[in-house]
Amino acid sequence: MEKIRWGIIGPGKIAHKMAQDLLTLDDAELVAVGSRSLDRAKNFAAQYSIPYAFGEYADIARFDEIDVIYIATPHHGHADHTIMCLRQGKGVLCEKPLAINSYQVDRMLREAQANQVFLMEAIWTRFLPQTAYILEQIANNRIGEVHSIKADFGFSANYDPTGRLFNPYMGGGALLDIGIYPVFLTLLLFGKPDHILANAILGATGVDEEDGILFSYHGGRMAHLHASLRNLTRSEAFIYGSQGYIQIHTRWHQPPGQVTIVNKGERPVTRYFPETTNGYAYEAAEVMACLRNGKLESDQLNWSFSRDLINVLDAIRQQLGLVYPQDGTRMP
Ligand SMILES: NC(=O)c1ccc[n+]([C@@H]2O[C@H](COP(=O)([O-])OP(=O)(O)OC[C@H]3O[C@@H](n4cnc5c(N)ncnc54)[C@H](OP(=O)(O)O)[C@@H]3O)[C@@H](O)[C@H]2O)c1
Repeated sequence: MEKIRWGIIGPGKIAHKMAQDLLTLDDAELVAVGSRSLDRAKNFAAQYSIPYAFGEYADIARFDEIDVIYIATPHHGHADHTIMCLRQGKGVLCEKPLAINSYQVDRMLREAQANQVFLMEAIWTRFLPQTAYILEQIANNRIGEVHSIKADFGFSANYDPTGRLFNPYMGGGALLDIGIYPVFLTLLLFGKPDHILANAILGATGVDEEDGILFSYHGGRMAHLHASLRNLTRSEAFIYGSQGYIQIHTRWHQPPGQVTIVNKGERPVTRYFPETTNGYAYEAAEVMACLRNGKLESDQLNWSFSRDLINVLDAIRQQLGLVYPQDGTRMP
């Protein structure tokens, strides 16, 4: 089988983890890296034996010997960097959130469609074995009728008003960085909410440092979600049903996975999902399967899902009064 040739844009923290995981996949080849600095690109390339290093993102986007590019820049770069690659006919796996707002995501999806190239948001949790297991347990009615979700994700971030977590220009705040995971889980299981109630503590830079979000659905479903950049929280997820519940143990969004099924009248069953990679190999494998099958989007995380997700994130931000410079006049 011919290898799928990967490039990486933005050789920062997450790019290292993805590079390590790509090296574990037999049918993947990490061919090039693009940085804003040639020295940084060369440095990264040397660590992973990557043959080509570029000191301009535009150069790697133009490079012919690549099938797909992983965009690992901060949130505010996702839209422009993705569109640049799509216009050069390169498939794109773009880190979450796909962009800062719906307006940017719509532009990206239009470009992927117009250029007939693959695009997927890198929500790695979707492709972890523990997620498949949970979906299977729910489909098999293991906890009865599912009514509610309680999920959180929090850590105590080092405060840097100019860094990507707190800087409004970079799409800072808890919601887009980590709150996106509980929101993702809820959309995966329940779809878009009919009603949203959200509140946040906005910090000195104006971004949300802690969010409390309630979703409700016609028909009686609910989700209670919490994200924090200032507290270390349990980072667990619970899915409650009429006959029991599923607990996805901390940290629920990442491997190794541990999932307990509690069904009334039965002994709880815990399943472990050990992991040898960083956990990014699964989403990369999905990208490659899609490319080999000539697909523009993944069935498991399609464009419509990413559009719903950013629409919900926008709606939450509207309630928080959280406006980014990129929103212009299009947001609250
Ligand atoms: N899926 C996950 O588990 C996960 C985990 C962490 C982060 N992420 C996502 O990955 C993205 C990157 O996060 P990260 O923590 O890896 O970020 P990071 O290390 O702070 O930055 C990544 C790279 O982006 C490039 N970059 C481009 N414009 C930049 C700017 N204006 N300021 C700073 N760097 C800039 C830099 O590389 P060059 O200058 O060398 O080009 C930098 O090394 C975020 O969108 C985040 O949501 C995902």
